[in-house]
Amino acid sequence: MVGDEAAAEVARRFGLPWRRELASPAPALWFDGARLVLGVWGGRGPRLVVDFLSGRAGYRLRHGDAGQAVARAVGVRGGQRPRVLDLTMGLGGDAFALAALGCVVWGVERRGEVAALLDNGLGRAGAELPWVGERLRLCHGEAVQWAPRLAAALSPEVIYLDPMYPEGRRRGAPRKEMALLRDWLGGDEDADDLLGLALSLGARRVVVKRPRRAPPLVGREPDVCREGRSTRFDIYLRR
Ligand SMILES: C[S@@+](CC[C@H](N)C(=O)[O-])C[C@H]1O[C@@H](n2cnc3c(N)ncnc32)[C@H](O)[C@@H]1O
Repeated sequence: MVGDEAAAEVARRFGLPWRRELASPAPALWFDGARLVLGVWGGRGPRLVVDFLSGRAGYRLRHGDAGQAVARAVGVRGGQRPRVLDLTMGLGGDAFALAALGCVVWGVERRGEVAALLDNGLGRAGAELPWVGERLRLCHGEAVQWAPRLAAALSPEVIYLDPMYPEGRRRGAPRKEMALLRDWLGGDEDADDLLGLALSLGARRVVVKRPRRAPPLVGREPDVCREGRSTRFDIYLRR
């Protein structure tokens, strides 16, 4: 985290190291106006910002076609808007798409840098769209620590998982943002552990987003599988 008072406050909240300046190029967070940016400090390389109101997310929001595939996978249909607990919230794209359709989505993100970016994006979106604060909630920390408490408070109908695919596997290249995050912050090598946790929470449905050709988590075949062009949703139903 690099910068001034506002940056120092974000660093404190999300447990990140804080420096007024960095001596060498390294991935860092800083403010560009109201927008929190993650990138290589001092470099010209790619940068990440969570912005739900412009770009691809904003376009889909304005045109009402946000997240159709993920919506079908979690069971949005007719008047049904399931409550969703997202244990791998990341940059919040899936959670936001579901909330835009009317779902209440609470989520967990363990990486401080990612949680800080998402918190900033949600704050800016919430200033324009009142439903953001009503439907979306982010908790920073490990899923295993937060999940039981959140499940007890929300009674989610769906637990949603979208872990990063481990590095070095060729099948299922991650989206550009995720590839950057994986390079800068590392992958989710413990992704298999999440399935058991998700299934233990008593929700009606557990939905796992995977690259289309990746094996299912823990090698456990889902009850239902929905395949898209590059992704697949593995759906486990409570019996
Ligand atoms: C592929 S990203 C999720 C992308 C998200 N679905 C979106 O639309 O932006 C996976 C995220 O899950 C987080 N994550 C993975 N395992 C976790 C765990 N056990 N607890 C909390 N967060 C976790 C990672 O830090 C990463 O940011």
